[in-house]
Amino acid sequence: MGGVIIMSPQRLVIGNHVLINAYSIIGAQSGISIGNYVMLGYNVNLATVNHKYTNPKLPIKKQGEYGAPISIEDDVWIGANVTILPGITIGKGAIIGANSVVTKNIKPYSIAAGIPARHIKYRFNKKYRSIANMINYSSY
Ligand SMILES: CC(C)(COP(=O)(O)OP(=O)(O)OC[C@H]1O[C@@H](n2cnc3c(N)ncnc32)[C@H](O)[C@@H]1OP(=O)(O)O)[C@@H](O)C(=O)NCCC(=O)NCCS
Repeated sequence: MGGVIIMSPQRLVIGNHVLINAYSIIGAQSGISIGNYVMLGYNVNLATVNHKYTNPKLPIKKQGEYGAPISIEDDVWIGANVTILPGITIGKGAIIGANSVVTKNIKPYSIAAGIPARHIKYRFNKKYRSIANMINYSSY
């Protein structure tokens, strides 16, 4: 079984009861926060850094980088082979389908999938979402 690579681990804040599956890459250079009871499938890529590319006189490699933090809230399940881009928040209780690329924030309890990841449906109806939202997973 392959391992997990964590870059800039000092910038990773991680909750309790978290599962990170094999071959995942946690690129925490610009900060990553992972809540409680989060599951990351195989080969998930959390990317917090972009390369600058707008200067016509320099190769991309020499233009520097910029980044933004990723936040994954409590009770999120990220499917296998998902990439999450810089600055994204995955709301509480959301699910990201296998092979997705997440380019925009995902609402709590949304099931989102595809490239780019789009909302497919909610896990629960509105009433159950408000019940689930009351659960405090830090003391669960
Ligand atoms: C996201 C997921 C949980 C949804 O499961 P579900 O609730 O049973 O949803 P459905 O299979 O009914 O799919 C609903 C729609 O979303 C689409 N869809 C589901 N998963 C998708 C994905 N990963 N990418 C693109 N579209 C997807 C389906 O094609 C379907 O579209 P349609 O309504 O046009 O037919 C599941 O498809 C998935 O991707 N699971 C991840 C599995 C995985 O990575 N396991 C590794 C161990 S962690």
